Amino acid sequence: MQKLTITQPDDWHLHVRDGALLKTVLPHTVRQFTRAIIMPNLKPPVRSVADAAAYRDRIIAAIPAGKRFEPLMTLYLTDNTDPKEIIAAKASQFVKAVKYYPAGATTNADFGVTDIRKCDRVFEAMQQVDMPLLLHGEVTDQEVDVFDREKVFIEKHLIPLKLRFPNLRMVLEHITTSDAVKFVLAANNVAATITPQHLLFNRNILFKGGIRPHYYCLPILKGEEHRQAVLQAATSGNPKFFLGTDSAPHSRNSKENSCGCAGCYSALHAMELYAEAFESVDALDKLEAFASFHGPDFYKLSRNTEQITMIKTTWRIPDEAPFTESGLVPLRAGEEMTWKMT
Ligand code: DOR
Ligand code: ZN
Repeated sequence: MQKLTITQPDDWHLHVRDGALLKTVLPHTVRQFTRAIIMPNLKPPVRSVADAAAYRDRIIAAIPAGKRFEPLMTLYLTDNTDPKEIIAAKASQFVKAVKYYPAGATTNADFGVTDIRKCDRVFEAMQQVDMPLLLHGEVTDQEVDVFDREKVFIEKHLIPLKLRFPNLRMVLEHITTSDAVKFVLAANNVAATITPQHLLFNRNILFKGGIRPHYYCLPILKGEEHRQAVLQAATSGNPKFFLGTDSAPHSRNSKENSCGCAGCYSALHAMELYAEAFESVDALDKLEAFASFHGPDFYKLSRNTEQITMIKTTWRIPDEAPFTESGLVPLRAGEEMTWKMT
């Protein structure tokens, strides 16, 4: 295939940060996607409908002139979230979900939940008003091996949570393991987002010829059998699986550091990365549903009507994303891609 035209896609898991970085990264996403679920892990986090409204205004102000883009907002769940905030969030219409981070799990997760059972009253309210729960599905226990943290989270916390709240709609975010695929397939009212890096790479890339911080994200890349399971799920056509880049910009110096930050920057070339992954298993015919249909269907939103086109051509990913002051290194910087969005 030399040309691929599909319905305009959306990104169902995205970090756009704030301030100058927001202005830098948002145009990259706007080029590729019509809507995005915006992660609330700012410093301080987006905890209330008022926070989300103000953040949404700042995002809208950063949309390049003449472009159409809709930020879909989320709230950051804490030990102290009031169930009333969920009712207000539903009424706002622009808050589409609530994000659970285990305290300390990842970037700006210090305000996260210390014990998931503390939030049962909030989950009750979410189930009642049909507000989806988005989960960073990893335990944070330092004694659990970093490669097992998703699997242990599912066993210890997610299966019991699902039993307590069978009708609460959930998205297990950025899944990385065959365990997550199995859980999602078996559970009612549960979907999952999948990033480009977890489709394209296994953990060997982290140490190829030396340590490679730009491939470090959380949940961390897993072994090849897990990558295969996640790729199979993404390309299966099953509506439980949809696109969420988890594009997470950090400046070059905070990645290339003795204690580097977690996050891969893919907003610049996300669709091209997904196209390569789907093509690798001869499943380009499944890309449109994964990127453009399953997400809005889960979130009960209308599908986009416009189209994008990608063509088969070789180009080199820049060493640094354009228009950045601090140096933002895209995923697979300097390497060749075989698809290009027109
Ligand atoms: O790699 C990651 N980066 N994983 C997350 O969960 C958070 C994200 C970020 O915000 O940088
Ligand atoms: Zn994320």
